[in-house]
Amino acid sequence: MISASTKRFLKDTGSRVPIVCGPMYPGSNPELVAAVSEAGGFGVVQPIALTRLYGHDYREGLRLIKTLTDRPFGVNITILPKTAASAKYAKMNEDFADIAIEEGVPFLLTSLGKPNDIVEKAHANGVKVYHDVHNAKLAGRAYEAGVDGLNLLNNGMGGQTGAYTAEEIITAVKPLVPEDFPLMCAGGVSTPDQLKHLQDLGYAGAQLGTRFLATHEAKITDAYKEAIVKASSSDIVWTNKMAGTNSSVINTPMVSEGGLRTNAFVSFLLRTPATKALTRLYLLQGALEKYDQAAFDPDVQYWQAGKGVDGISNILTCKEVISQFE
Ligand SMILES: Cc1cc2nc3c(=O)[nH]c(=O)nc-3n(C[C@H](O)[C@H](O)[C@H](O)COP(=O)(O)O)c2cc1C
Repeated sequence: MISASTKRFLKDTGSRVPIVCGPMYPGSNPELVAAVSEAGGFGVVQPIALTRLYGHDYREGLRLIKTLTDRPFGVNITILPKTAASAKYAKMNEDFADIAIEEGVPFLLTSLGKPNDIVEKAHANGVKVYHDVHNAKLAGRAYEAGVDGLNLLNNGMGGQTGAYTAEEIITAVKPLVPEDFPLMCAGGVSTPDQLKHLQDLGYAGAQLGTRFLATHEAKITDAYKEAIVKASSSDIVWTNKMAGTNSSVINTPMVSEGGLRTNAFVSFLLRTPATKALTRLYLLQGALEKYDQAAFDPDVQYWQAGKGVDGISNILTCKEVISQFE
């Protein structure tokens, strides 16, 4: 029996199967996003991957996806503070949201910040908003801001990871929202059995990243895809050296060289309120450069992946992945 929250998620996204392909840098090329939606799941665009990494003009990239599928897809918007260090990026993300709405994208997945303003604008245009959170406090705030659903980030996910298990975070968030409010699980999911277990816990569905990297449609190197297939969860480590916060990656020699944590000086800068934002921005720039190379050069092995690698034993098409969950 399909739950009320799953029904709401399917209605909000227009998808047939409660599986999202999360925004990924690298990984979210237009062909991947389109293939997931076309197969009955729901693809979400990572705007910087679309533009900087895969070289599309943003609006044209969205239009390209629309030529590849008639099915709906979403866009990820990062809400940044308008401080001197990040004002330019905050404005860029506001433009990403405005253009998505103009192009008829029906769904925004927001990350960081307070979603109040974007919810107002999106709802005025009939667009749904789900927000990424990694703890109950942020979940409560986002719910109060009027979001349509929440993406609960857990400690099994690839990319920048959460701190709690999927069980811990839903236990803390569920009492804060109505029974049919969609809560999505982001992290560590790659098999239908896992989805079933999560739905028993009260999740509406799951957002997957790592599973979709090991597909024919993902534009990353074969070496990266094969490393995901070969890896087990004991090969997944956290490092804060890439982006200043914990990123979940495969423990290759390139990653482990010199240790997984920032040195004492950088750690101090990351802890100090006056230097924290700029230091993170600086590290993030460096991380993007590494991820750019890792997407296209098999010898650059900064491979982000989550603990769901245990359930990934072959490279499939998106259609094959989605059909496993039907
Ligand atoms: C290579 C990679 C890059 C990612 N980049 C982003 C990103 O730029 N923005 C974001 O919101 N999430 C990002 N994520 C997280 C995914 O959207 C998704 O929530 C996560 O991968 C789910 O966990 P899983 O990898 O265990 O399936 C990334 C994940 C991976 C594996």
